[in-house]
Amino acid sequence: MTQAPPRTVVVLAAGEGKRMKSALPKVLHPLLGRTLVGHVLAAAAPVGAARTLVVVGHGADQVTAHLAEIAPAATPVLQAQQHGTGHAVRIALEAAPESEGTVIVLNGDVPLLRAETVTALVEAHERAGAAATVLAAEVADPTGLGRIVRDPAGGLERIVEERDASADERRIREINAGIYAFDAARLRGALGKLSTDNDQGEEYLTDVFGLLAADGQAVAVHVAADANETLGCNDRVELAGLRRLLRDRINEGWMRTGVTIADPMTTWIDVTVTLGRDAVIDQNTQLRGATAVAEGATVGPDVTLVDTTVGVGATVLRSHATGAEVGDGASVGPYAYLRPGSRLARKAKVGTFVETKNAEIGEGTKVPHLSYVGDATIGEQSNIGAATVFVNYDGINKHRTVIGSHARTGADNMFVAPVQVGDGAYTAAGSVIVSDVPPGALGVARGQQRNIEGWVARRRPGSAAAEAAERALQAGTALPADQPPADASTSESETVHDRGRAGGVGEGARDTRNA
Ligand code: UD1
Ligand code: CA
Repeated sequence: MTQAPPRTVVVLAAGEGKRMKSALPKVLHPLLGRTLVGHVLAAAAPVGAARTLVVVGHGADQVTAHLAEIAPAATPVLQAQQHGTGHAVRIALEAAPESEGTVIVLNGDVPLLRAETVTALVEAHERAGAAATVLAAEVADPTGLGRIVRDPAGGLERIVEERDASADERRIREINAGIYAFDAARLRGALGKLSTDNDQGEEYLTDVFGLLAADGQAVAVHVAADANETLGCNDRVELAGLRRLLRDRINEGWMRTGVTIADPMTTWIDVTVTLGRDAVIDQNTQLRGATAVAEGATVGPDVTLVDTTVGVGATVLRSHATGAEVGDGASVGPYAYLRPGSRLARKAKVGTFVETKNAEIGEGTKVPHLSYVGDATIGEQSNIGAATVFVNYDGINKHRTVIGSHARTGADNMFVAPVQVGDGAYTAAGSVIVSDVPPGALGVARGQQRNIEGWVARRRPGSAAAEAAERALQAGTALPADQPPADASTSESETVHDRGRAGGVGEGARDTRNA
């Protein structure tokens, strides 16, 4: 391989994007995991530029702040007034007078562009020793775009904007994608000669091609294999169209690596997501940000995962998770909400209508139903009863609840943090646990039940309830009046266990052994 000349990348991102009708600068609109300009920078990254310049103008502060996050090595260059794409490149190169070799210019709003295409354009340009090379594409509807005007020999004569084009030229369907490679020195020379004698009174970068061609310099056209890559984004309808195309590209890519995507039309996967082999993504699922789904895991239907990892063979069903870790073989949902800091170890379960936050849920531990688990650490193989609330907030500060391993907590418990429940401990259903429960103890904290015999007959005489009670008493199916239900607060633990009423663990249930 011969030594490539030094390369400079210039991304044009100063325009307002009027037709987006947005407070957000156009290039900052998100598209499946990156902003528009983020996609363009990613596509340009493999050319290995010594310098990357991004021309900013409209919303410069916002765009600059975003660049600091996603591309700290890039240099923002302010184009205070937007006098056109030629003006923008001129200003960029004035900020980088040392740049020589190849200058690659990319519009900031062409997010489907592939890195391979940029690389192929640059390599073709450098191989040919051209002064300028434009990426072109044949499209069905060229409306609004610059047209490639070829000379009789098929070479590039010039690029004409639609508004400056003749009727004949408007019929040309070969368009300028807004992606170019230039020889730095010859680009500088031509930029100095740009006029503003056009319909918009702007300095058009595209005029560089006509100027160089007229000067006898080699100008070239590199045709994109896939015209979709060259699509720009001017309004939100186009943005939605780009999103669909990118969705399909991403989904197809994963299916070819061995991921099952049941319904690609309703599956939206960010470019930043990773998926393991034999993962199954069911319909109506969004996978966003730094989400990673491991081998053999099943996600969906109806799942949104943001920055969440899902372990080998785990399942996530009809749920929403942000910043969570779901361990190997763990199960989530249906209808769970995992918030940041939720960490489910191997084979843990977070079930139906359960919300978790900053919660470590140990191996094999289950939180099956109707609970809020906030700021908690739970050991291994424990079971949290239905309808439990980890009361983590005292109105000012958040506190932590720690529950040990092999614990069985009753249904409808409140754990008023800070509080601890030891290994192997139980708690009774309906308890408000405000102080620690030692290992192996049964914690009970609730009012004692009393039954007022005959109350319905006296206070609701003639009601359906009274009649039903009467029938039951006649038939002798009622509990004997002299044997009140066992109550954990008064009974020996043995008795309590035999009657299965102590914990009310699991399915709001009586028998902890089946929970
Ligand atoms: C441009 C091309 C057109 C091409 C099309 C592809 C010119 C004159 N025309 O047209 O041939 O088919 O892109 O999408 O170049 N920008 C600046 N500063 C400016 C003006 C623009 O940074 O002063 C940026 C914009 O933010 C945008 C890019 O340059 O990212 C293109 O500008 P835009 O106004 O969208 O150009 P088009 O009219 O679409
Ligand atoms: Ca445009």
